[in-house]
Formats: sequence, structure tokens, C-alpha cells
Amino acid sequence: MAAEIIAITQQKGGVGKSTIAMHLGAAFHEKKKRVLVVDADGQNTLVHWSSAASDGASGIPFPVVNLSEAGGQIHREIKKFVNDYDIIVVDCPPSITEKVSGVVLLAASVAVIPTSSSPADYWSSVGLVKLVQQAQVMNEDLRAVFLLNKTEEKRMLTRELKVALEELGFPLLKTQIPTRECYKQAMALGQTVLQMTDRGSRLAATEIRAVADEILGMLP
Ligand SMILES: Nc1ncnc2c1ncn2[C@@H]1O[C@H](COP(=O)(O)OP(=O)(O)O)[C@@H](O)[C@H]1O
Ligand SMILES: [Mg+2]
Repeated sequence: MAAEIIAITQQKGGVGKSTIAMHLGAAFHEKKKRVLVVDADGQNTLVHWSSAASDGASGIPFPVVNLSEAGGQIHREIKKFVNDYDIIVVDCPPSITEKVSGVVLLAASVAVIPTSSSPADYWSSVGLVKLVQQAQVMNEDLRAVFLLNKTEEKRMLTRELKVALEELGFPLLKTQIPTRECYKQAMALGQTVLQMTDRGSRLAATEIRAVADEILGMLP
């Protein structure tokens, strides 16, 4: 069976697209799925991350491929991998003016839209919703969800944002990802929190596994 494609996309940078793409890859890998993670962003965060582990240390245990040069042809490049994997996670570039997110969404089963509690993220989500809805005209099976990242649950803004996001038309995943220092450490170590053993990482790993389960539940 051909791989399901999961697009991690948002108009803005810094919302956690790359962090979420790599960690979803890790959670699916742990569940024995054949996972490929695609770096579609010219910043190449995932390419750097996957080669950041020091000699001898365990690094990212699944392949990360750099397709950031493929531009509007990226769907053709991704297609070359679909028979060899169960799940392909694509870390999309931040700008929706680029063709890349649009063509990836045409091939994807699920779009995950990370957002923080910042109003700027909410405004850029509005643009992203339009892009997803355009893709859904051609790709009727595409489903989209918001994922709240870097949350501080007690803050009022987060609760208001939750309601506002749902009014945009796509559901919000039940699991939220709080701000945790371990995500930055994981990137620096060339690992994911699933490989780390401190308390924060163990909590983070539980959250990431829950997000992965919710997304698996959305796949056909
Ligand atoms: N939940 C989180 N807690 C703490 N830091 C985070 C979290 N999510 C992302 N970050 C950090 O925020 C920065 C931007 O994240 P990144 O995944 O590169 O975003 P994007 O790919 O959307 O530009 C990175 O330094 C990353 O380590
Ligand atoms: Mg990124």
C-alpha cells in the first residue's frame, strides 16, 4: 500500500513545524511504521538536525530526505518514495506564497497546522485555512487539524485562541504540546525527546505519542 502523506504546514516560521515533523516521525517509527521524513524547507532544519548527533551517540533512527530544492515539483519527488514507506511526514516551508505547501497538500491525507497562542499565529492560520480548502477541492480526502504548540495552559489567551481556531473550521487536536526546554536540547543533540530520559523529556514523549495516536486515528 502507498504511504500516507502527512503535511506539517503553517504560513509563519517559528511555530514548531520542524520540531513537530521530526517528533511525529520518531513516534511513528517507534510504532514500527516505515517512516520517511521530508525536509521541504530551504532552511533545512531537519537536514541539520538529523546530522547533529555527535560520533557514537544515537541519532535520528529513520531517514530524513532533503527535497527543499524540488519547488513546485516536490509531489513528483515524494511519489518516488511512496511504495517504500507507510508514512511520509513533510516539513513544509513557512510561506504559503510558495507553491510547495499547495502541491504537498494535494497529495496529503492529513495537514497538521501548528500554532502557538500568539495572535500572529492565529492570523496566519486564516491564510493557511484558505490554502487547505483550495487543496480540498481537488483532494477530497484531505483532512486538517490544528495543533497547539508552546502552550501555557493557564493563560487566558490560549483558551480564547482555542475557540477562535475551531471557528476557522478545522478541529483542534485534543493533545497540546507545552513549552519544554527539552525540544531545543533534542535538536542540538541530534535526537528526539523519545530518546532522552530526563523528566521533562519523558513528559514530552508522552505528549508526542498522544499526538501521533490522534493523527493515526485520522488516517484512512
Ligand atoms: N513545544 C516547544 N517547547 C519549546 N521550544 C519549542 C517547542 N516547539 C518548538 N520549539 C523551539 O522553537 C524554535 C522554532 O521551532 P521550529 O520547529 O524550528 O519551528 P518552524 O519549523 O515552524 O520554524 C526552535 O528553537 C524549537 O526548538
Ligand atoms: Mg522549520
